Amino acid sequence: MSTMAENESAARTLYQRKAMLRTAVLAERDALPLPLRKERSRAIVGTITALPGFRGARSVLLTSSFGSEVETGELIAQTLASGKTLLLPRVNKESRMLELYGIADPESQLARGTYGIAEPRPERCRCAAYGEVEWVLVPGVVYADDGFRIGYGGGYYDRLLPLLPAATPRVSAAFQLQRRSEVPHGVHDQKIGMVVTESGVYRVGVPETAR
Ligand SMILES: Nc1ncnc2c1ncn2[C@@H]1O[C@H](COP(=O)(O)OP(=O)(O)OP(=O)(O)O)[C@@H](O)[C@H]1O
Ligand SMILES: [Mg+2]
Repeated sequence: MSTMAENESAARTLYQRKAMLRTAVLAERDALPLPLRKERSRAIVGTITALPGFRGARSVLLTSSFGSEVETGELIAQTLASGKTLLLPRVNKESRMLELYGIADPESQLARGTYGIAEPRPERCRCAAYGEVEWVLVPGVVYADDGFRIGYGGGYYDRLLPLLPAATPRVSAAFQLQRRSEVPHGVHDQKIGMVVTESGVYRVGVPETAR
């Protein structure tokens, strides 16, 4: 087999391994009863808002939660109440990039967009620069102890994260059931630095016993 064919076959296998794990963990997450999802989301948001990195950030890039994700509504509300600049992403399908916008009033500035997610309405928002982000919440499906993650398969955060300031903390909010010791990853996959679950804070590179 030629090297090119080998590369293609390896990429397909990686794609399939990610897809299988993504499907399995999504099914587990979807099965979490709503009251538990709400209770655990509250605990996770409480932990995030107490993180020094989050507290010190003037401008934070969050996500509007959808489906069975950790609910971010309260995190968004607290961000605005604390006087921070709230940034939310919008999917640009043509460029395959995330555009960032400043949001002061979610009620009037957001609308259901791609995948049914509440996204900024560009005509009603200030367009923000990637360099403004001082703290980022990275969405996803599966999280490994070494910082690698599996998202929804678009590669949007893999393309966004390298454009953010190097010092910007990359944090994910997830249920404990979304954690695995390892996940398959390729050259484009970007690591995060921390996962916050209902059980606590998991920093990449810090042994479990030292936490
Ligand atoms: N920086 C990049 N440049 C070019 N292609 C990329 C880059 N990052 C990711 N991709 C491509 O995007 C596709 C989806 O990547 P992947 O399966 O890792 O998505 P994901 O991590 O689950 O999604 P997301 O980052 O949106 O959460 C893959 O084909 C991957 O090769
Ligand atoms: Mg990826």
